[in-house]
Amino acid sequence: MAKESLTIIDNRTGKQYEIAIENGAIRAADLRQIKNGSDDFGLMSYDPAFTNTASCKSRITFIDGEKGILRYRGYPIEELAEHSNYLETAYLIVKGELPDRKHFEMWEHNIKVHTMVHENIKKFMEGFRYDAHPMGMLLGTVGALSTFYPDAANIHDLESRRLQTRRLIGKMPTLAAWAYRHTRGLPYIYPNNELSYTGNFLSMLFRMTESNYKPNPVLERALDVLFILHADHEQNCSTNAMRSVGSSQADPYSATAAAIAALYGPLHGGANEAVVRMLERIGSVKNVPEAVKKFKAGEGRLMGFGHRVYKNYDPRAKILKKMAYEVFEVTGANPLIEIAQELERIALQDDYFVSRKLYPNVDFYSGIIYQAMGFPTEMFPVLFAIPRTSGWLSQWAEMVRDPEQKIARPRQIFVGEKLRAWTPIEKRPVPVNREDAVDTSI
Ligand code: CMC
Repeated sequence: MAKESLTIIDNRTGKQYEIAIENGAIRAADLRQIKNGSDDFGLMSYDPAFTNTASCKSRITFIDGEKGILRYRGYPIEELAEHSNYLETAYLIVKGELPDRKHFEMWEHNIKVHTMVHENIKKFMEGFRYDAHPMGMLLGTVGALSTFYPDAANIHDLESRRLQTRRLIGKMPTLAAWAYRHTRGLPYIYPNNELSYTGNFLSMLFRMTESNYKPNPVLERALDVLFILHADHEQNCSTNAMRSVGSSQADPYSATAAAIAALYGPLHGGANEAVVRMLERIGSVKNVPEAVKKFKAGEGRLMGFGHRVYKNYDPRAKILKKMAYEVFEVTGANPLIEIAQELERIALQDDYFVSRKLYPNVDFYSGIIYQAMGFPTEMFPVLFAIPRTSGWLSQWAEMVRDPEQKIARPRQIFVGEKLRAWTPIEKRPVPVNREDAVDTSI
């Protein structure tokens, strides 16, 4: 049988090394024995943006980007989206197995008893400017929660980890809904635990003067499916931030705030907001060919297309494309869907997109659905953050328990100045071209 190892010959020294291959990977630290002399640090691998570096072993989410496969704990995303609900999926992600009825009911109860927040959190949120971006509010408020729960610092205590997990999953819809109400100048609505997780969220968002708010069941289910699809996605930018900040043993609220910050960016959770703005800018189906030409020329990106991992149709986008029409039955069609479909049709026939394996990702259709449901674009990344909280916490707990993990600390390749002697200000030579000498990028 072939050996599970890699033989490396260092052509600088002629020395040969054998490095073990485990799970299709070599340990980067094994390269350190390859030295070009006794004072050499040892060979490193250089991988900006971690495009080919596994930072952990994980049992939570499996993605085969070439085939367009996504599974949580072994269950295909399509089956979960069809049969499960978000809270059950969150249990699966956090605990590793689907719950039986008794455990589901306990889990649901344990989450719902944490939907309320301290009144000072309400005051804290009221302090934001009237036009504050709700994602910025969520980010700041989740960070602030760490000061309300100092017990969260006990990250090695199982009961504490469980409690913070329930608190965060329970409180996220409340904070998200209040951030929305704040931007609308509307009074904050307290949770109603008689409703489902997403039904209660809709109530805290949209309830006006009704004494008995009843969410539309189609929209409630659509939101639940959107939450299932966004619950986890292995080592993406925000999960990496969660793990990285958590690796310093910061409490989970601080680590979740860091994850929210990462999700805020337009290349990650902000992409669905960017998709809708892009579709609005394009304005009409007849302008699509011209827009595609511009994307190909590098004038902006076709937002909602392309993915670091998926080199095929994102399976979540497939589910959402179908679901959009079910939502439109209730809300009326969003005219942006026509532009999106035409963009997809043209892009998927165009060699630029085909050769680079750029397909619609989850954000391509989610924004159109959110908009039809009445959400302003600023709320889109917030709607991503709520369900992703279960994924972040599960990934964080996996990291905390992993004996191989340490504080995250990448190496660098230093390419700056060698040793220089400090000179007094009046003796410093004036560079011929100061613009070239100093860093003008910041
Ligand atoms: N439109 C036009 N060209 C693109 C796009 C796009 N959306 N995405 C990638 N490319 C091109 C890129 O210019 C490059 O071309 P070339 O090889 O000629 O230089 C090539 O495709 C590879 O792109 P890359 O930037 O090296 O790929 P990446 O893996 O670093 O980036 C991505 C992945 C998602 C950041 C990128 O595809 C992108 O910016 N997409 C638009 C933003 C978006 O939809 N983000 C949501 C991601 S899914 C949700 C989530 O996980 O957060």
